[in-house]
Amino acid sequence: MKKIVLLASGSGSNVENIARYFQDKEQVKITAVLSNRRDAKVLDRCNRLGINGLYFNRNSFYKSDVVQDILMALKPDLIILAGFLWKMPEKMIRSFPDKIINIHPALLPKYGGKGMYGDKVHQAVRDSGDLETGITIHYVNENYDEGTIIHQAKTAVSTEDTVETIAQKVHALEYEYFPKIIEQLLA
Ligand code: GRF
Repeated sequence: MKKIVLLASGSGSNVENIARYFQDKEQVKITAVLSNRRDAKVLDRCNRLGINGLYFNRNSFYKSDVVQDILMALKPDLIILAGFLWKMPEKMIRSFPDKIINIHPALLPKYGGKGMYGDKVHQAVRDSGDLETGITIHYVNENYDEGTIIHQAKTAVSTEDTVETIAQKVHALEYEYFPKIIEQLLA
């Protein structure tokens, strides 16, 4: 059995989608979801789904080994950032080589980097006039959105699209591909 841990700061719709994908598959278990926001909707979802949800603060992440030690104790086969906005500490990246992955809601290297998240990404795509966008699943290194790309999927963008419709298209790709790629990486 493979164990995964997810880190999420926001709504957690990807966390829920991943949880539902693996709920009847005995080979993969979500052992915990860690969130840096006490009021994040993702923690409510964890409650509903019967998954361990844990809140941690900045100190536990950057100034002490609290989160690092929790992760070490959980011995995850994969650490998955699913809408997690804080930069991963270097020590953590070194401790889990090739075991931390992220999903970004655009086709990296476009529209990545610090401050590029959520609707800001979709707005930039819309403003650019690009005719496509998509998702990028990649390994996490010490720079935002720069690790080796594992998988990309594309969707068309037209002049009719709004930030909201782009977000919907991108979310649909995330729901379709993220669980499958996780499953492949664990196989
Ligand atoms: C997703 O669009 C993901 O690509 C990005 O953050 C968003 C998280 O959405 N990294 P949700 O919290 O899973 O609904």
